[in-house]
Amino acid sequence: MAVRSLLRMGDPFLLQKAEPVLSFDTPELHELIADMRETMAAHNGAGLAAPQIGVGLQVVIFGMGVNPRYPDAEPVPDTVLINPELITLNEDMDDAWEGCLSVPGMRGWVPRYSHLRYRGFDLHGQLIDRTVTGFHARVVQHEVDHLQGILYPMRIRDLRQFGFVDVLFPTMDPAQDN
Ligand code: NI
Repeated sequence: MAVRSLLRMGDPFLLQKAEPVLSFDTPELHELIADMRETMAAHNGAGLAAPQIGVGLQVVIFGMGVNPRYPDAEPVPDTVLINPELITLNEDMDDAWEGCLSVPGMRGWVPRYSHLRYRGFDLHGQLIDRTVTGFHARVVQHEVDHLQGILYPMRIRDLRQFGFVDVLFPTMDPAQDN
């Protein structure tokens, strides 16, 4: 296992579409996911997509435990999601501040679908099929965007609501990055 270096916005690799995983439960896939977990933990992230460490495969991880600093953010189970597919359940959207490990030190006000069904596979190839809302839905949309070459600043509607976290929130702990 190793903490891998993170690609940052401006790297053209982050704008590429990732390829589907064809073989599950392989040593290479286990190693990739172990590296992604270690890298996400080292940066206190809530999510990470394989392209962020330079691997062009449709693999994302995410999860966030109960955090007393953010009592309104419901916990999100630790999840490995491979070859994901998103199904929006209605047109409802909500906005919230988002960050990204590939856009360090910044936050933007990003609209996301409020309700979402997502499907994909775990690292053993077992089907995952969940219907989620709120922060869980937001994290999944952020991570799956990475697989399409989309970074959250590309989703901001009003770029006046994009800035440095220590300027935007001088007295608050920032939320976690994805
Ligand atoms: Ni991100």
